[in-house]
Amino acid sequence: MIKILAISGSLRRASSNTTLLRALVGLAPAGVAINVYGGLGDLALFNPDLEGNEPSSVLDLRAQLRRVDGVLIASPEYAHGITGAMKNALDWLVGSGELENKPVALINASPRATYALASLAEIITTMGGRIIAEASPTVALLGKNLDAAGIIAHPEISPTLHNAIVAFAGAVENHRVNSAF
Ligand code: FNR
Repeated sequence: MIKILAISGSLRRASSNTTLLRALVGLAPAGVAINVYGGLGDLALFNPDLEGNEPSSVLDLRAQLRRVDGVLIASPEYAHGITGAMKNALDWLVGSGELENKPVALINASPRATYALASLAEIITTMGGRIIAEASPTVALLGKNLDAAGIIAHPEISPTLHNAIVAFAGAVENHRVNSAF
């Protein structure tokens, strides 16, 4: 079983990024289990003074990441950057290293979010994450008002996402084999 944690950078109840990740749960092939992280809004603001004495929410995020083989990230773009909530979560992982050598797919819900996507790629790479390009599609969800079932039924978006998660699972398998040596 390949275990994946999916993290949305949006706290919005009707978030297109979170909906996209929920759709990926339904599109995952057999043998791939995706869990959508629900704690982003509960994380304390990152403060290096708290390192070694982290709140339980931070320890829980780190533990969830240690248990998985890969990570999916979908973040909206705010003012040409990633959201503060997403950056805050990532800042808590810089020192503890859970993304080090971890396969990561960047799932982009908007073709306009080019700055956020580039910024995420830079941050994740700096933290040692392995971005899987073939598993990092951009899909045009904006304005379509689709729920997860609607995404799964969509004739273009659905195969794009399915192919991405199949490619991600393949990359995780390769990574496991290569890491074993
Ligand atoms: C945005 N949005 C936006 N979009 C974009 O392409 N470039 C940008 O710089 C911004 N800036 C921005 C700032 C703020 C404060 C908000 C609230 C929104 C639009 C935003 O990315 C878009 O609505 C996403 O769909 C939001 O994602 P969720 O919440 O649906 O996942």
